[in-house]
Amino acid sequence: MRTSRRGAVDPFIVMDVMEAARQAEADGRHIIHMEVGQPGTAAPEGARKALTEAMADDAMGYTVALGLPALRARIAQLYGEWYNVDLDPSRVIVTPGSSGAFLLAFSALFDAGERVAIGAPGYPSYRQILKALSLQPLDVQTAPENRLQPVPDDLRSLDFEGLMVASPANPTGTMLDSAAMGSLIDLCREKDAAFISDEIYHGIEYEAKAVTALELTDECYVINSFSKYFSMTGWRVGWMVVPDDHVRKIERLAQNMFICASHPSQVAALAAMDCTEELEANMVVYRANRAMMAEGLPKAGFSEFAPPDGAFYFYVDVSAFTQDSRAFAREILDEAGVAVTPGMDFDPVRGHQTLRFSYARSTADIEEGLARLKMFMAARGFV
Ligand SMILES: Cc1ncc(COP(=O)(O)O)c(C=O)c1O
Repeated sequence: MRTSRRGAVDPFIVMDVMEAARQAEADGRHIIHMEVGQPGTAAPEGARKALTEAMADDAMGYTVALGLPALRARIAQLYGEWYNVDLDPSRVIVTPGSSGAFLLAFSALFDAGERVAIGAPGYPSYRQILKALSLQPLDVQTAPENRLQPVPDDLRSLDFEGLMVASPANPTGTMLDSAAMGSLIDLCREKDAAFISDEIYHGIEYEAKAVTALELTDECYVINSFSKYFSMTGWRVGWMVVPDDHVRKIERLAQNMFICASHPSQVAALAAMDCTEELEANMVVYRANRAMMAEGLPKAGFSEFAPPDGAFYFYVDVSAFTQDSRAFAREILDEAGVAVTPGMDFDPVRGHQTLRFSYARSTADIEEGLARLKMFMAARGFV
């Protein structure tokens, strides 16, 4: 049967790593998971309890397309609490994860063939979703001295209709401060390009609070999710904030594409937003893991990285050891029993020289993983 060229997107290599790790476990091996991009913790207890109670007397039918009004209001309140931004709940749209928000945003903002600049390394699905929508991803190679975030000089000579940034970013964990984000917003204004900010790792930050684009402008799309800080990946619920005059357009797209985000997940998400104690307890673990990684990775020979400001990843240049990060990751899995992600998912050009290490799991796992990595590297004479 015929197929489209649009649908010919690349696979997500980390999924292949996860499958290889699963196979190794099925063969009886003990694997430390540093490949996964998700919390090892469940949704907050308060969220699960609220859902159990709601299910007793609610049929959980469709919600309105823009999301439960109480959830939209609570998300708007979060912008006051976290950033001192006064946000009108009518601009908040609840989505099926941030992934659903990308589909809505790209559909609402761009026509077929238009170009959207994305920093490389970056989250791979931006590129693949753009391609699947007949849009053109424009990979912008970012510089180590800019902590692998795009800067206006990388973009000035290029033609594009949109710019997508992430702060804290996946895979690097680096952030854009207010001045850096402001300069990108100004450039987009000059070029009449849409500015989209992926803020999915907000809440998981270590030194300074992450800046939301909404502190700087209302003329942007901000995308966020309950997947990371709120520890609800599989619940598939996120949100997007758009300018006033875009809401109705997004509503029509959302009605037709998804009808609504999962109703039970919206109920749980609303309650999760008040589970601060439990969520901050997760942060204590991430903070300890990050410190352990910052010390342990260089001792294992992995010292070429920008210290991450947020999220739960270290993105390491391994060009001193290999030119084939995929094969190197395979050797680390086979010989050390540690699953890590090769960089090609994030950067088609330089990713053969990089690995991403996630520290989203327990501190005991991180300690064991670092010890195994050190042994692996020592056996090769690299440390
Ligand atoms: C930067 C970034 N954005 C978006 C997503 C997608 O998240 P979700 O659809 O679960 O909200 C991820 C997942 O890892 C991510 O790392």
